Amino acid sequence: MLVEVNGVQMAYSDTATGSPAVLLVHGFPLNRSMWDPQMGRLRAAGLRVIAPDLRGFGASEAGPPGPLTMDQHADDLAALLDACRVTDPVIVVGLSMGGYVAFAFWRRHASRVRGLALLDTRASPDTPLAVADRHRIAAEVEASSSLQPVIDAMRPRLFSPHLPRGSRVEQQVLGMLASSSVRAVADGERGLALRPSSLPTLPSISVPTLVLCGEFDALTPPADSEVIASGIPGAELVSVDGAGHMSNMENPEAVNEALLNWLEAVQK
Ligand code: MLT
Repeated sequence: MLVEVNGVQMAYSDTATGSPAVLLVHGFPLNRSMWDPQMGRLRAAGLRVIAPDLRGFGASEAGPPGPLTMDQHADDLAALLDACRVTDPVIVVGLSMGGYVAFAFWRRHASRVRGLALLDTRASPDTPLAVADRHRIAAEVEASSSLQPVIDAMRPRLFSPHLPRGSRVEQQVLGMLASSSVRAVADGERGLALRPSSLPTLPSISVPTLVLCGEFDALTPPADSEVIASGIPGAELVSVDGAGHMSNMENPEAVNEALLNWLEAVQK
């Protein structure tokens, strides 16, 4: 489905029935199809599932040139909920960049949040070295009109070392990566580099929170999730056996079980 949100055409899926609504926010530079292993299970559990392609990614328009910021994504999500006529608070589930967006959503639209599930993400901002690297990748992607620089940078850290090379999950993720646009990757990297620290946000989070991390996540390692969980009052921390950064795809059974158990507790 497509809807105009803050001046851009945003692509999204919405099961339209069920409650509460769960907003699934994808990572960089991916799209909503990364949530395919969760969609059916969440829907079958009676939840309304809304999964957008963030602006610039998947089938959504990018809008005016310039960094794709977490704040802009968060405001787009709020406008998408309006367009879907969702007025009750929602469960926000974000993986990696989706987690950065979830923090921004909390800062800007806290009254719309009923719970947060933060997967394979971090609260800290980029180090100066990481910022420089993002600008290098953005420049190289633009200069070469190729996504190879971002694929080379991310691929070695995306999966568990135990995931067989050439596996279906690897092919799916690399396919998503390769189908991104140069614009989304370059302006996405610049937007990620601009994100503020979410460390001061952690103690302000007053809704039930699940923090989940692949045991072998090399991109946002388990230590980052420990920082998040210890900073948010009452947060629950779950390690996903055998998974790397793409935990929801690498071990979907474990992630679905953790999400559904937590969601059941949240709704009591
Ligand atoms: C992601 O997986 O969303 C990104 O790799 C996050 C990042 O680059 O910090």
